[in-house]
Amino acid sequence: MLLLLAGTASMGMVSAQAAEQPANNPATQTADKYKDMKFDIDKVAVRNDLYAEKYPLQYQSWLSTKQSEKIGDALEEDPRLVVLWGGYLFSSEYNHPRGHFYAVTDVRNILRTGGPKDENSGPQPAACWTCKSPDVARLITEKGEDGYFGVKWAKWGSEIVNPIGCADCHDTNSAAFAKGEPALRIARPHALRALDKVNWNFERSDKTDKRAAICANCHVEYYFAGDKKTVTFPWDNGLSVDQMQKYYDDLDFKDWTHSLSKAPMLKAQHPDFEIWTMGMHGKNGVTCVDCHMPKVQAADGQVYTDHNIGNPFDNFQNTCANCHDQSKEKLEGIVNSRKERVNTMLITLEDQLVHAHFEAKAAWDAGATADEMKDALQDIRHAQWRWDYAAASHGAFIHAPEVALSVLGSGVDKAADARRKLAVVLTRHNVAQPVAIPDISTKAKAQAAVGIDIEKQKREKEEFLRTVVPQWDKEAKEKGLLPADAK
Ligand code: HEC
Ligand code: HEC
Ligand code: HEC
Ligand code: HEC
Repeated sequence: MLLLLAGTASMGMVSAQAAEQPANNPATQTADKYKDMKFDIDKVAVRNDLYAEKYPLQYQSWLSTKQSEKIGDALEEDPRLVVLWGGYLFSSEYNHPRGHFYAVTDVRNILRTGGPKDENSGPQPAACWTCKSPDVARLITEKGEDGYFGVKWAKWGSEIVNPIGCADCHDTNSAAFAKGEPALRIARPHALRALDKVNWNFERSDKTDKRAAICANCHVEYYFAGDKKTVTFPWDNGLSVDQMQKYYDDLDFKDWTHSLSKAPMLKAQHPDFEIWTMGMHGKNGVTCVDCHMPKVQAADGQVYTDHNIGNPFDNFQNTCANCHDQSKEKLEGIVNSRKERVNTMLITLEDQLVHAHFEAKAAWDAGATADEMKDALQDIRHAQWRWDYAAASHGAFIHAPEVALSVLGSGVDKAADARRKLAVVLTRHNVAQPVAIPDISTKAKAQAAVGIDIEKQKREKEEFLRTVVPQWDKEAKEKGLLPADAK
């Protein structure tokens, strides 16, 4: 079945397993060595275009992420999501990920960042830039973590302008990089700190573990902690759905209060790295880079790393076929059947959650007390956290399908607990059951059902894109952060 297991495949195994263990790392118990860490990163290092000449193969393949331009509207495809995120800006707009090239464009365009008029307005904190650009690492070096976080998102509009690039993954000013070596680097103190907690110290990692950790810079679960809204990974207990849930519960943390059910909700981000460690490939040390950034050969025979991060099936000969001897059709068939199963379970759980949110609302409307509702709301929180952990880890159906299915199974169970408890409360308050669900068959109808004024948000966004953003770009060019002729 397997043609060969590259030497690298077994090397990563130890750490991938270690990552499942809770932290017991002396590094985390002494002074925080990452506090205000300086990275060798300046306004030259952040400019991707400046590497085009020296590293044309890597640069051009990086630039090819521009070809993945399709915006997939996840709310239109599945309007249940609007209800699940009621009262949270995710219910205004949520799209599937696309090429790294668009990271800055997309965070500016998305309705969730609103239409700030100056550096002190808008709904989001600076934290929302954190996984979009090497300029973030530059700002953390210049201002310290306390200076970078703790302000509004719009404050850094003219500073954070280069999309995910060379300096996010490489120590671009190092001698090793100048010689053409990867010199992989994670230029985010919070990511280094979190990796230590799961015994994955970046500096001490071997080549394989570094290759996986480089993506953990961003493709992870995180939340915004404290008044300064500092990006923090909830990994103190470990990476599983239960361990992170315990972390949040112990802190009594919530991302928002649901507008219908009033449940204290958690929003999972994208625990892609976490779920990968638990899957068949992660456990065998097959890293993100083996599938998404394979070594390829240029026309002149030179071997280099393909930086066009996208769907590994588009590059089958250099990815899956390196280790598997099945045909592309066969493996794609296996992956698609798992995708279907995971999607079916996702939707099963979504339906249960939609009912639970509306049932809770009906109970409140009938005069239920906080005390009566408490247990059911906690079950809704936990059920939806499970759904989101599986849904938001993009590609879970390939990275760890059996983990996704068991997480979703436990979510269905929690949702059933919630609904059973709600039925008791509803009966006590003489509410007729089943509780009716409004028409949520399209995004627009679902948004109306949860009371979102989408037209107002769109108008504010258009105004912002027309007036504020061109000013940001102009200033960025004056500062030399963008090429003078950038569009
Ligand atoms: C998302 C992370 C990421 C980004 C962004 C990125 N690289 Fe890389 N790069 C890698 C990885 C991973 C490797 C392979 C490391 C290994 O082989 O262990 C690599 C390898 C390289 C190498 C070593 C030679 C080779 O091809 O293997 C060079 C040079 C390089 N990249 C240049 C660039 C340049 C220039 C940019 C910006 C235009 C860039 N990289 C952007 C992750 C990245
Ligand atoms: C600095 C943060 C950052 C790093 C590092 C990073 N990513 Fe991403 N990645 C993102 C963001 C943000 C998006 C979504 C961009 C958008 O939709 O505008 C994304 C999108 C993607 C996509 C979807 C691409 C598509 O065309 O649909 C894949 C696949 C991906 N990343 C894999 C990786 C892998 C593998 C690594 C490590 C080698 C990596 N990323 C490193 C932030 C990052
Ligand atoms: C065994 C190969 C393999 C490994 C290892 C792997 N991936 Fe994937 N990944 C895939 C495949 C195949 C897809 C599905 C691609 C698609 O349908 O667009 C995918 C999908 C994704 C997506 C979603 C892309 C989208 O547009 O929805 C992201 C993000 C991603 N992977 C990131 C990662 C990260 C980060 C790691 C490591 C922590 C990783 N992958 C490890 C094969 C792999
Ligand atoms: C670097 C080597 C490597 C690459 C690249 C790789 N795999 Fe694997 N794959 C493995 C290993 C190792 C296992 C575990 C083997 C075992 O124990 O049976 C595995 C197992 C699998 C399995 C069966 C395990 C399960 O989940 O039930 C499937 C399916 C699979 N891989 C699909 C893919 C696909 C699709 C790709 C490309 C997107 C891919 N692999 C890329 C090494 C690799």
